[in-house]
Amino acid sequence: MASQQAGPLLIFLCWTLSLVFLLILLVGAAAGILYLVFQPELPKYSIDRLQITQFNLTSNSSLTATFDVTITARNPNKKVGVYYEGGSHISVWYTGTSLCQGSLPRFYQGHRNTTVLNVVLSGQTEDANTLITSLQQQQQQTGIIPLNLRVIQPVRIKLGEFKLMEVKFRVRCRLDVDNLAANNAINIRNSSCKFGFTI
Ligand SMILES: *[C@@H]1O[C@H](CO)[C@@H](O)[C@H](O)[C@H]1NC(C)=O
Ligand SMILES: *[C@@H]1O[C@H](CO)[C@@H](O)[C@H](O)[C@H]1NC(C)=O
Ligand SMILES: *[C@@H]1O[C@H](CO)[C@@H](O)[C@H](O)[C@H]1NC(C)=O
Ligand SMILES: *[C@@H]1O[C@H](CO)[C@@H](O)[C@H](O)[C@H]1NC(C)=O
Repeated sequence: MASQQAGPLLIFLCWTLSLVFLLILLVGAAAGILYLVFQPELPKYSIDRLQITQFNLTSNSSLTATFDVTITARNPNKKVGVYYEGGSHISVWYTGTSLCQGSLPRFYQGHRNTTVLNVVLSGQTEDANTLITSLQQQQQQTGIIPLNLRVIQPVRIKLGEFKLMEVKFRVRCRLDVDNLAANNAINIRNSSCKFGFTI
């Protein structure tokens, strides 16, 4: 019984494997051709300015923060455009605490375009006494407050005339500043952004 079934099964398996192999080859070739035609490059981001309009502890120990951030987004591509879609989320973190949040506007970024974006981030943190203490200690000891800026940005890529499905850009920036006082000149001592995306 078993040996009678083995023949057709083997042939079926062989065909399936060949088909899968062919499909992988075709998808690979298509991806290769698309890559050669469009020569995609990763977008670049930098944080140019940070202004703080509010950073105060209220009597019930909640911290109110409003940051004004200037982000430069550069699309280095000659043939690829980027639609920044709704549902964008930006947050600024100190250690494990999110201090303020906001979002980027919807816009289309064309080929080789550099766009300067001004975003207002605001937020409230409850029970912020220990946070403020550790922040002040770190500033006094090192002269630097290390912040992290995270962006989750839904986008659609435009290849020539084709608008592709939505993907999420994930940008993480390290942002070392010298102080966090409202209405002060904040110097960015060091900043660098990492780019990634998920489907
Ligand atoms: C926080 O401080 C800013 C500037 O120091 C001031 O303009 C604002 O009214 C304060 N906000 C609160 C809620 O105390
Ligand atoms: C603390 O005060 C702020 C405004 O003064 C208010 O928005 C917040 O809900 C208060 N938090 C608590 C826990 O009462
Ligand atoms: C870049 O794109 C923005 C947003 O679409 C637009 O306002 C701006 O004019 C463009 N800049 C150039 C140089 O084309
Ligand atoms: C800036 O930050 C990077 C990564 O955190 C670090 O390697 C570099 O030494 C820093 N540069 C300065 C001038 O602090």
